[in-house]
Amino acid sequence: MSNWYFGILAFDKREGYINVQNGPVLSLNVMAILPAISLVSVVLYLSGNALAAVPLYGQCGGANWTGETTCVSGATCSYSNEYYSQCVAGSATTTRATTTSRSSTSTSTRPTTTSTRASTTTTSAPTATIPPPAGITTVLPASAGYTALPTASIISGHFDGRMVKYDRKGSSGACQEQDETGEAEAVFILQSGASISNVIIGKDQAEGIHCRGPCNVTNVWWEDVCEDAITIKQTGSGDVTYINGGGAFNAEDKVVQHNGAGRVSISNFFASSFGKLYRACGNCDERYARHVTISNVCLRGGKEGVGINSNFGDTATLSNVKTDGKPSGSNVCCTYEGVASGSEPDKIGCGDGYDACSYTASSVGSC
Ligand SMILES: *[C@@H]1O[C@H](CO)[C@@H](O)[C@H](O)[C@H]1NC(C)=O
Ligand SMILES: *[C@@H]1O[C@H](CO)[C@@H](O)[C@H](O)[C@H]1NC(C)=O
Repeated sequence: MSNWYFGILAFDKREGYINVQNGPVLSLNVMAILPAISLVSVVLYLSGNALAAVPLYGQCGGANWTGETTCVSGATCSYSNEYYSQCVAGSATTTRATTTSRSSTSTSTRPTTTSTRASTTTTSAPTATIPPPAGITTVLPASAGYTALPTASIISGHFDGRMVKYDRKGSSGACQEQDETGEAEAVFILQSGASISNVIIGKDQAEGIHCRGPCNVTNVWWEDVCEDAITIKQTGSGDVTYINGGGAFNAEDKVVQHNGAGRVSISNFFASSFGKLYRACGNCDERYARHVTISNVCLRGGKEGVGINSNFGDTATLSNVKTDGKPSGSNVCCTYEGVASGSEPDKIGCGDGYDACSYTASSVGSC
């Protein structure tokens, strides 16, 4: 208040309108008006907030979502997965109760996140899409916008893409089919410890994501994989990268390429039309024992699930795997003979008869 008082006094003095005697009178008037202005501002602010609704294709729910959950008129909040609900055109066809019951049937591997989702879901509008099987979405979510990056985007900390589509259209990072590409042609490069969530990687890119160290990739989608969707380069034997939720379409070769050390965990993931969901490098310069844990995935139109090199000490542990028969129950895990850089590894065989492949072929389900 005193700042106002002196400010007005100084102004008045410069203009020469009032003398010091008038000062206190004027300041009293200002003090009477200010609360009134504040009150009007608060009312305007509150009514503005109450009217805010999520636009079409905007996010309206998901784990940790604290924003608005009501969609604009004509749109409804549709559950994509645990991490993301989106406003889509049309009205609801199923109710919130259905979503809640589905969360209670989610896999036993995620007991802690289940409670988070359940509490988030209760604040959401009714949902329209319930994707089978539980925890996995089998359709590409609609994008909330599009950005073509001229160079790879380097991420440290966390990046939430809010379901905007990113690729490298028109740049040196656009898909170059057979050419050997590398990190510079990626869309996103994640520094060690970084995480990315809620992103759609568009078709115009050579390499999707490169993780320089352990990273978390949550609810990320590839509409059309070019070279590899994710390349893992972590170097510590205890490093773990988590790929949770999301999916990839049309990977002629591999979805996840594990060139570094440690473990990759892939859960609640969907892959459609691909060579391999995961490959532990069989001919990289650096030789590591690489490990993969797969839980709750739906694989359709794939040649093999995972490929590992038993002579390098690689292991694969798979549970709750579902396929459309491609790959078959025995082809969800295959072992190879890892070789020196420059040579091509030979396949040893596929199925649960190999020690390095820890799973039960007969328990592979369908999706
Ligand atoms: C939700 O928040 C917790 C705690 O901050 C964090 O560990 C987790 O990664 C978040 N999940 C997502 C999907 O962002
Ligand atoms: C990555 O995900 C794992 C498993 O959900 C979690 O324990 C860890 O805190 C996450 N790290 C980051 C950096 O988000």
